[in-house]
Amino acid sequence: MRIIKSVAAMQRLARGWQRAGTRVGFVPTMGYLHAGHMSLVQRARRLTGRGGKVAVSIYVNPTQFGPQEDLSRYPRDFARDVRLCREAGVDVIFAPDNAQMYPGAGADKFSTFVSEGELSRSMEGQSRPTHFRGVTTVVAKLFNIVQPDVAVFGSKDYQQAAIVKRMARDLNFPLKIVVAPTVREADGLAMSSRNKYLTGDLRAQALVLWRSLQQARVAVREAARPIPAARLKAELKRLIECAPAARLDYAEFFDPVTLVPVSGVTRGTHLALAVFIGKTRLIDNTQL
Ligand code: PAJ
Repeated sequence: MRIIKSVAAMQRLARGWQRAGTRVGFVPTMGYLHAGHMSLVQRARRLTGRGGKVAVSIYVNPTQFGPQEDLSRYPRDFARDVRLCREAGVDVIFAPDNAQMYPGAGADKFSTFVSEGELSRSMEGQSRPTHFRGVTTVVAKLFNIVQPDVAVFGSKDYQQAAIVKRMARDLNFPLKIVVAPTVREADGLAMSSRNKYLTGDLRAQALVLWRSLQQARVAVREAARPIPAARLKAELKRLIECAPAARLDYAEFFDPVTLVPVSGVTRGTHLALAVFIGKTRLIDNTQL
């Protein structure tokens, strides 16, 4: 397994692969890898087949963090990430630093951005106004650097995956985007690098996200007709905020393809939640 830190070296390798007709699968990450990330790696491996190559990027992208967010304390363990990737048969880790990704006089001098204008306005986009512009910009850059045939994203970040798909289509990136299911802990908590912040009894309280998704699913399956979204939201807020450290940021019911909010919730409607557990902001989602 190779570890590449320079953009030029990664592009050289990628160009060589392209010329040789080698199929390349790509999994972009911010590191502190867990079984959710590794499931994407396995998917990329299956999609590229024997003779294909799998690249994983590990880069905590500053432009997708807001000024009050957790950029400086975002968990990192590069040695462990390397070990996990090696065990999973990854061919190359691309791990640039900020000077490589945002050249010039630091990230604040970088002046070209990619921004998606429709799907990114709601939910995460509303709570974190500059977040998706940072994501689409860095993902576009990573696509240009790694030049994959297929890139795998997790449905844990459902809105992000939808936006990346839209970007790839709108800007004609010559690759396929595959979205893989959310991997959960045994008790239902969605795996996330940020779960590391959940110390003491916050870990148990974080289960309210999973419980809420389950409760909404049961409600929808038992209902004879569409449930008013506003009523279900109010019920979920009550349930969530029973946990003393939990505060609901948003609960949104929407169409899984267009991401447009629905007023009547039925089977097939998508539910996304963002909940603060203490200072840690967690997201989760499911199709009902
Ligand atoms: P990160 O949070 O590290 O996630 C990297 C990829 O892993 C994303 O596609 C995410 O949806 C997926 N993932 C995270 N938790 C998962 C889980 N429990 N099950 C399945 N997949 C999971 O998302 C980012 O990084 C960044 O925004 C990035 C796309 C790398 C751009 O900087």
